[in-house]
Amino acid sequence: MIKIAPSILSADFSRLGEHIKQLEACGADMIHIDVMDGMFVPNISFGIPIIKSIRKLTKLTFDVHLMIEEPSRYVEDFVGAGADIITVHYETDRHIDRTINYIKSFGIKAGVALNPATSVDSIKYLISNLDMVLIMSVNPGFGGQKYIDYCSDKISEVRALADIHNKDIMIQVDGGIDETNIRSVVNSGANVIVAGSAVFKNDEIDKNIKALRAGI
Ligand code: DX5
Ligand code: ZN
Repeated sequence: MIKIAPSILSADFSRLGEHIKQLEACGADMIHIDVMDGMFVPNISFGIPIIKSIRKLTKLTFDVHLMIEEPSRYVEDFVGAGADIITVHYETDRHIDRTINYIKSFGIKAGVALNPATSVDSIKYLISNLDMVLIMSVNPGFGGQKYIDYCSDKISEVRALADIHNKDIMIQVDGGIDETNIRSVVNSGANVIVAGSAVFKNDEIDKNIKALRAGI
């Protein structure tokens, strides 16, 4: 079963509550929440108070993608805000093994994200302890970028590693996915698809999610 995780980075923030309700009604499997600090990535998005306030609106899984330096500093705050999954970037943390265990100690799920140029080898010893691997298929920081083709090889590499060490793991891919390339991303081995602009374009969330599912 392939999961669709709409990224609210592409939402109209003046109508965020309305969008969350729409995503739930349209059968989104989780809500992908992109947190950016203006240091690890060249953009600043939103943080803990926003997550806390939308938490009241839905029971959908909150999939929090932290694009921030030294994420362990804020794990407890994001758990308190209602995160169900916290994903940290391999590139942001010198003690990623410790941070994964720390996230899991709160009883929630933990993921590691890899930038496009980061090798899959970096998670070889972590994968058996992870709930999710996030393969970035654009350089993080902005929605609406083009899918980087070599990332499909990385998805296959993670799939092969998962088949050996953790076959039920979620393999999430994030960036530049729409109805035209979703099938090849899934065929490479992904089972959780993040989509921002493809979900929110033209303010037609329902139609866009259906088109993504039909594209698989
Ligand atoms: C990029 C974010 C993505 C982004 C995806 O740094 O992590 O989640 O919102 O947007 P699209 O689907 O438009 O590439
Ligand atoms: Zn993301």
